Amino acid sequence: MLILGLETSCDETGVAVFDTDRGLLADALHSQVDVHVEYGGVVPELASRDHVRKALPLIEQVMAEAGVTGSDLDGVAYTAGPGLVGALMVGATLARSLALGWGIPALGVHHMEGHLLAPMLEDERPEFPFVALLVSGGHTQLVRVDGIGQYRLLGESVDDAAGEAFDKAAKMMGLPYPGGPHVAKLADTGNPERFDFPRPMVNRPGLDFSFSGLKTYTLNTLADCRRDGELSDTDKADVARAFQDAVVDTLVIKCRRALKQEALKTLVIAGGVSANRHLRARLESALAKEGARVFYPAPRFCTDNGAMIAYAGAQRLAAGQCDSGESTVRPRWPMEELPPVAAA
Ligand code: KG4
Ligand code: ZN
Repeated sequence: MLILGLETSCDETGVAVFDTDRGLLADALHSQVDVHVEYGGVVPELASRDHVRKALPLIEQVMAEAGVTGSDLDGVAYTAGPGLVGALMVGATLARSLALGWGIPALGVHHMEGHLLAPMLEDERPEFPFVALLVSGGHTQLVRVDGIGQYRLLGESVDDAAGEAFDKAAKMMGLPYPGGPHVAKLADTGNPERFDFPRPMVNRPGLDFSFSGLKTYTLNTLADCRRDGELSDTDKADVARAFQDAVVDTLVIKCRRALKQEALKTLVIAGGVSANRHLRARLESALAKEGARVFYPAPRFCTDNGAMIAYAGAQRLAAGQCDSGESTVRPRWPMEELPPVAAA
């Protein structure tokens, strides 16, 4: 089955063509960072307008690279939520119009299911059941996954998402949006011994997270470091390191706890923060000691992309699921509401 995938939930336009027999045939991404950078964050209306400008040319480009035309395709998958309503509507309208014109089904895909299944695009894939840590700009969730569409939420952030915390810490240090990769790069040169940041909620039972206290702690530490209002490069690097260590430690502790609680040995991490090299390395070494394994997507498929939407959509379209005439976008959409897909 040959599926076109379109991602437009936030600030990247992602397009891919995925074949259930041959795998990923082509994919491309247009990032809107240049559009939003001067505002220090995503401006929803500008995001929608940029998707309008970029989505169709990107679809034409990717279909040409894959060597396919509309008549070769079996379905169109697009991100129906969660995300920015205007941005979602651009993708949904375009995808559904194309599908109508080509006489093929369309399917609205859950963005976080796309992230969750992105490791399936790799050669070495995890087997169900597993625990998934979804860490993006909008979500921090631990989920038990028994199959596609069989999700049980084990814990989530009670305030900021991990990616959001990275972005806010970056802003405090004067680093550009999106801050996660910039904080991670600075942290590489920071001294891990200088500051000891708290590990929020690790001493309480349960699998929920909280990152807003860490944000305040970061702000206060930076205030103590300032001399005549200025921060030295060393101060920034040391704070970045302490902040990243605290987030990573917290995530590792909760992942191990979730695996133990569910008596599972397989962990999947996905979403933008799963691109963090320190998080991957720490999880790998911690889990190896317990005979458990961690799987993650290639770095370019950790952050938003069209391939994960094409993949997730292909699994559901192949199982006969598709939009009804009344389908609409879902800016808020609990993943547990998704219908299951029977194992092939
Ligand atoms: O999954 P994603 O692309 O978009 C959402 O669905 O939110 O995740 C974006 C988030 C941003 O908060 C970004 O700062 C963070 O992922 N991020 C990182 C890294 N790369 C991206 N955070 C920490 N370390 C990274 N290397
Ligand atoms: Zn995302």
